[in-house]
Amino acid sequence: MKKGLFTKMILAYSIIISIGFIITATILSFWFQGYYNDQKKNELISQGQYIQDVALEYLNQKVPMDIVEARLKKLGGYSKSDILLITNYGLVEAVSDDKYKKFEGNQIVTTDLVELRKGEKHIIESKEYKDIFKESSHIFIIPMYKEEYFEGAIMMSTPLKYMKEPLDKVYSIIWLSAFIAITGSFFILYYFSQKIIIKPLLEINNAVGKISQGEVGKRIVIHSTDEIGELAKAFNSMADSLEQVDRNRQRFISNVSHELRSPITSIRGFIGGILDGVIPKEKENYYLSITNDEIQRLTRLVNDLLDLTAIESGQLSLYQNVIDINEVIRLCITKFGIQVDSKRVNVDVLFEGNSLQVFADRDRIIQVLTNLIDNAIKYVSEGGRIKITTKTKGAKAYISVFNDGPTISAEDLKHIWDRFYKADKSRTSKSSTGLGLPIVRSILSQHGEDIWVENKEGDGVNFIFTLKRT
Ligand SMILES: Nc1ncnc2c1ncn2[C@@H]1O[C@H](COP(=O)(O)OP(=O)(O)OP(=O)(O)O)[C@@H](O)[C@H]1O
Ligand SMILES: [Mg+2]
Repeated sequence: MKKGLFTKMILAYSIIISIGFIITATILSFWFQGYYNDQKKNELISQGQYIQDVALEYLNQKVPMDIVEARLKKLGGYSKSDILLITNYGLVEAVSDDKYKKFEGNQIVTTDLVELRKGEKHIIESKEYKDIFKESSHIFIIPMYKEEYFEGAIMMSTPLKYMKEPLDKVYSIIWLSAFIAITGSFFILYYFSQKIIIKPLLEINNAVGKISQGEVGKRIVIHSTDEIGELAKAFNSMADSLEQVDRNRQRFISNVSHELRSPITSIRGFIGGILDGVIPKEKENYYLSITNDEIQRLTRLVNDLLDLTAIESGQLSLYQNVIDINEVIRLCITKFGIQVDSKRVNVDVLFEGNSLQVFADRDRIIQVLTNLIDNAIKYVSEGGRIKITTKTKGAKAYISVFNDGPTISAEDLKHIWDRFYKADKSRTSKSSTGLGLPIVRSILSQHGEDIWVENKEGDGVNFIFTLKRT
């Protein structure tokens, strides 16, 4: 991941940044070149102007030669240029440097003279000029007029190296800045993409790897509020759920093993006792009947577990039909005749109308009612009262199973729907597994229906569930 994403990102951003800076530097260089040339031209023109007055006076024999030459020398030294004073016939009249003395009286401006006379072109720029200026130079010829008559010209030649010196300096500054900016942005980019994207992604990747290997407690420590932070948060909450599932699984396994161990231990004890002859012959039947009970309990436990697993995994399909819930309730109550009598419980039935048609899976609803009534009988006080009621409201039928006796504590209320949860250990019989209510709830949620419990303080416990009316 590091190589792929990181390299691509850095490469893409670096190319974009470099192109940006190179374009900027090129535009800036071109602009500066134009600007500099204009400036230089203006400077030379105004320098030319400085000697123009004296030159004109000299050409009209109003000032002596040495004054003009002194001016030319002064200006030439100041502007690092060689300056020649040209007459209207193109002859060299005066020079700024003695090495040009030999050209005095020579006609050096010929074809350009025509242009200059016309006054069309005031400045002629050229890199080299005949064999006078050998060095590669920038040459300006500024014509001079007196009352519209062409009187002569001033020729100023500046070696290119002097012209380009400041330009090169500025170029190197521009390109050096561009280089610094590009490398600077590269490092900033490198640092931030590492810090903001790559490292967090690596951390997430690392955590995912750990979790997939079974370390469900692993979490990502990223506190940023951006998309990566959100991803980390989502990932952590997914890990929480996984951890919870894992914990439930472990608890489930330990509960199942525990529930299986106690009947197996007692069965093994009794049968071993009979086989060893430790249990006397006349007591064998008694112990065998206890063993039988334990085997029944084991069978019930295994059946309950299989039921619950099948319902929760959606393997058990519902066969829903129109059924009379009142009739189903009556049937279920009769099954508990013996328990009801032995505990001297009063069972009241309060139906709304003689029959109540609902749409449900009959066998599953019998399972629900059996579990609820079994609980009611189990947890009702001796000689207490059980009341089963049906009611309708809109499209729903409400079936409640009430028993008087102690209410369920707030703490237990949170857990009674959990598998293997048995609240009052002293009151629950040995045969309890704590799977009844989870099965009830799973069946009803498979029907798309609801179940809840109401504590009636000082009165009893009421389980209510809904079914669809037809
Ligand atoms: N009618 C009730 N009155 C008081 N407490 C109840 C009632 N019904 C359920 N409970 C509490 O809820 C717990 C869970 O009930 P559940 O039916 O799931 O398990 P169980 O009855 O203990 O065992 P099983 O139903 O597997 O024989 C019970 O142990 C009991 O503490
Ligand atoms: Mg029960």
